[in-house]
Amino acid sequence: MEQIQFLFIFSFTIICLSSPIIRAIPSDPRRLVLNLTHRDSIHSAYHNRSEDFTTRLKRTMQIRRTLSTTDIEADLVPSNSLFLVNFSIGQPPIPQLAIMDTGSSLLWVQCQPCRRCSNQYSPIYDSRSSSTYKVLPCTSEDCISSKRPNTSCTSSDPCSYRQKYRRGVGSKGNLAKEQLSFRTSDDGLIVLHDVIFGCGSNNGDLQRSNRLMSGVFGLGYLRTSLATRLAKFSYCIGGNVSDPSYIYNKLVLGDGAGVEGDSTRLEVIDGDYHVLLEGISVGEEKPPINPNIFRRTGRDSGVVIDSGSVSTWMVKEGYDALFNKVQSLLNPWLTQSSIQLDPDLDLVAVCYNGTINQDLEGFPTVTFHFVGEAELVLDTSSLFAQIEPDRFCLAVLPIDGNQTIIGLMAQQNYNVAYDINEKKLSFLRIDCQLLED
Ligand SMILES: *[C@@H]1O[C@H](CO)[C@@H](O)[C@H](O)[C@H]1NC(C)=O
Ligand SMILES: *[C@@H]1O[C@H](CO)[C@@H](O)[C@H](O)[C@H]1NC(C)=O
Ligand SMILES: *[C@@H]1O[C@H](CO)[C@@H](O)[C@H](O)[C@H]1NC(C)=O
Ligand SMILES: *[C@@H]1O[C@H](CO)[C@@H](O)[C@H](O)[C@H]1NC(C)=O
Ligand SMILES: *[C@@H]1O[C@H](CO)[C@@H](O)[C@H](O)[C@H]1NC(C)=O
Ligand SMILES: *[C@@H]1O[C@H](CO)[C@@H](O)[C@H](O)[C@H]1NC(C)=O
Ligand SMILES: *[C@@H]1O[C@H](CO)[C@@H](O)[C@H](O)[C@H]1NC(C)=O
Repeated sequence: MEQIQFLFIFSFTIICLSSPIIRAIPSDPRRLVLNLTHRDSIHSAYHNRSEDFTTRLKRTMQIRRTLSTTDIEADLVPSNSLFLVNFSIGQPPIPQLAIMDTGSSLLWVQCQPCRRCSNQYSPIYDSRSSSTYKVLPCTSEDCISSKRPNTSCTSSDPCSYRQKYRRGVGSKGNLAKEQLSFRTSDDGLIVLHDVIFGCGSNNGDLQRSNRLMSGVFGLGYLRTSLATRLAKFSYCIGGNVSDPSYIYNKLVLGDGAGVEGDSTRLEVIDGDYHVLLEGISVGEEKPPINPNIFRRTGRDSGVVIDSGSVSTWMVKEGYDALFNKVQSLLNPWLTQSSIQLDPDLDLVAVCYNGTINQDLEGFPTVTFHFVGEAELVLDTSSLFAQIEPDRFCLAVLPIDGNQTIIGLMAQQNYNVAYDINEKKLSFLRIDCQLLED
């Protein structure tokens, strides 16, 4: 009897002692929390000293990835994206500054031997001098599921890729495996082994040589992509997106992603992250919007949540209803003075004379309601952008076609978490500065 009791206590102790160790086994238990670098911050190689604030904000408001992604041919304007991820590749580690993009799936860097590369933004990694570089044969499972099958290749061929973005920009080279190391925001170091990446030997504008890129940190979904391997990621963009001096913008990769707050169903369609938007309210009122305009009815429709767009781009009928409501609240008091964001695209933003801080006191919040409990509440600094000292503009723009894109301004001051396996997107309203490292 005594012995049995002893055994029981003994085994109980083992379980207690061993469970934390067991939990630590799967991988490094520390969280992979990264500081994001703002493209226009003075620490960023993309910073353009001669660009004034208004020009920059006009450019920023237009940032939008375009529709239609069929894995390897994602269609966006990466050189105009807003946030950069700082990491190192290979052994010895070579630091890289790559564009964060949930709209494409490939992570690529400039790679020697190189036909078109530039060290303007990051040093160029050389696969030949890295001890952790691994070739991905053309016939390997990972190569085949990373791209359209290339029937004419043999196991001695490398796994070639060609990533195209909008306006002739892209990257060509070979897919391979490498080790990535990340300096976490609390100054730790986390290493991910054997990450499939594009070793890009011909990068930037593939027609003209004047536009260069240092690399893209694709967070889109594809069987072999990093996001799929990590299953979860989250980001928190705070302050206001046009403020390059705000230092608390964060990206969390993997299990440490803060999947908290109310959630809604997340669906990956053609590599895009889709959500179901049920309606929009302005204060207590709901402008008359038929929720069917946000439904998915075929290709390039529905509502996409995006980190590569800044403004929110809304289908015409939804935009008109929202705009009419805003106008009825502001027109009696403020002068409307719209501006052309891009003459080539005939893109006009609705603006008002005044300042967000002084003239919009008491303006109601605008709420995007999603299926489930999740919502995004936009206060005036998420809905409007102060483009000039005495003029601010609506950061919701009309889009041709049937697809609504929720941009980063609407996601400001939220921790946005993508749980790919659970098909859940969560929003937690928070001051990004308060997020734990
Ligand atoms: C990127 O990280 C490296 C080392 O971790 C650091 O020296 C460098 O300043 C960082 N670059 C930016 C733009 O934050
Ligand atoms: C920097 O900004 C100036 C002024 O807007 C513009 O003319 C120039 O083309 C920009 N340079 C780059 C490299 O984008
Ligand atoms: C297919 O593989 C062969 C052999 O590596 C290569 O020459 C050809 O360019 C590849 N085609 C495509 C479309 O990648
Ligand atoms: C990340 O940002 C925080 C806040 O500015 C700073 O204290 C920390 O040193 C940064 N970490 C790295 C690795 O840059
Ligand atoms: C956003 O940031 C910019 C740049 O720091 C600043 O000038 C502007 O006042 C801020 N806007 C709001 C609404 O806080
Ligand atoms: C509105 O602002 C624009 C640009 O600052 C200015 O040219 C215009 O005169 C202003 N209109 C009024 C009525 O104040
Ligand atoms: C938008 O949807 C309507 C109705 O489903 C369809 O007729 C139209 O072709 C679509 N427009 C685009 C640009 O796909």
